[in-house]
Amino acid sequence: MEKSPIRVLVTGAAGQIAYSLLYPLSKGDVFGHDQPIELVLLDIEAMLTVLDGVVMEMQDCALPLLKSIIPTADTDVACKDIDVAILVGAMPRREGMERKDLLRANVKIFKAQGESLDKHAKKSVKVVVVGNPANTNAFICKKYAPSIPPENFTALTRLDQNRAQAQIATRMGLVPQDVKNVIIWGNHSNTQFPDVRHAKVAGKGVYEAVQDDAWLKGDFIKTVQTRGAAVIKARKLSSAMSAAKAIGDHMRDWWFGTKGDEYVSMAVPSDGSYGIEKGIIYSFPVQAKPDHTYSIVQGLQIDEFSKEKMTTTLTELQEEKCSAEEFCGY
Ligand SMILES: NC(=O)c1ccc[n+]([C@@H]2O[C@H](COP(=O)([O-])OP(=O)(O)OC[C@H]3O[C@@H](n4cnc5c(N)ncnc54)[C@H](O)[C@@H]3O)[C@@H](O)[C@H]2O)c1
Repeated sequence: MEKSPIRVLVTGAAGQIAYSLLYPLSKGDVFGHDQPIELVLLDIEAMLTVLDGVVMEMQDCALPLLKSIIPTADTDVACKDIDVAILVGAMPRREGMERKDLLRANVKIFKAQGESLDKHAKKSVKVVVVGNPANTNAFICKKYAPSIPPENFTALTRLDQNRAQAQIATRMGLVPQDVKNVIIWGNHSNTQFPDVRHAKVAGKGVYEAVQDDAWLKGDFIKTVQTRGAAVIKARKLSSAMSAAKAIGDHMRDWWFGTKGDEYVSMAVPSDGSYGIEKGIIYSFPVQAKPDHTYSIVQGLQIDEFSKEKMTTTLTELQEEKCSAEEFCGY
C-alpha cells in the first residue's frame, strides 16, 4: 500500500538553492523512494512569475512521487499542515556585505514565518533554516512558534561539515565518506569551529593520520570557515549546489537516523551541553533515530584549544541574538 504523502514547504523557491534542491527532494533522495510528497513553494510576490517557470519544470520532470505542487506568496497558505519546512528564502549575502545588515533584513522574515508555523503547521513539523544568518533566524523562528517543540527548529551547518570532510579527504587522497565524525561547533559563520579532534579517517584519528598539527589547527580551520566567501568571490553568487546537497543530507539523517555510532553536525537549540547557553541555536554533534528524534552527543573531551574556539562562536551567537531581539522590537 502506498504511504500517505508528506507536505514539504520550501521557501525561497524561485532562488538558486531551491533550483538545485527541488529535483532530488521530489524524486525520493531525502525522504525515501517510497514516500510521496506534496510540495509547497513559497516566494515573494515579485518572484511568482519565475516560480511559475519552476513549477512547469517540476511538472515536466514527471516524477512519480510528486503528488501536487502549490506555489504561493502567502506565508499562511504555505505553512498549512506542513510536515517539513525548509526555510531557504532570505536576502543572500553579497560580496562585502556586513553580517549585521543581513541580520536586520532577514530576522523579520523569520519572525513572520515562526508566527505562521505556530498557527498553521503540524505540531510535529521539522524545520531547517538555511537563509542566513541561519542560526539566529532559526532562533527567532522558534521564539515566535511557542506551540511547536523547540527541538523541531534547526539550522544548516551540514555544508560546513561536508566542506571539512572534503578538505581532510583531499589531503589524504581519499573520498569524504572515509572521514567520519567531523564536528562543526557553533555558528554557520566564519567563527564556526570545525573540529577533527574526535574524527576518524580510514579508522585512524585524524591528527594521527594527517601528521600535520599546524595545518589542522590553522589553514584547515580557516579554509572551512571562509569557504562560503571564497565561493561568492569566485562565482559572484553564494553556494547553491553544495548547499542543496547539504540540506538533503541534514533532512535525510534527521528523518531516517544516523548510522551506528557516527554523528553529524546540526545547529539545534542548546540544552546546556558543553556549557553552551540554553536555547541558543548552536551547531553540535548529534545522533538521530528513525523516529525523527535526535540527541546531542555527550561526553566528548574538550581541550583548551577547542574550548576557546567554542566560546568565540558562542559569543557571536549571543550578540546576534541580542541584535535580532532588538530588530524584532522586544
Ligand atoms: N546555511 C548554509 O549553509 C547556507 C549556504 C548557502 C546559502 N545560504 C543562504 O541561503 C539563502 C538563499 O540563498 P540562495 O542562493 O538560494 O538565494 P537567492 O537569492 O537565489 O534566492 C533567495 C530566494 O528567496 C526569496 N525570498 C526573499 N524573501 C523571502 C520571503 N520573505 N519569503 C519567501 N521567499 C523569500 C527571494 O525572492 C529569492 O527567490 C541566503 O540567505 C544564503 O546566504 C545558507
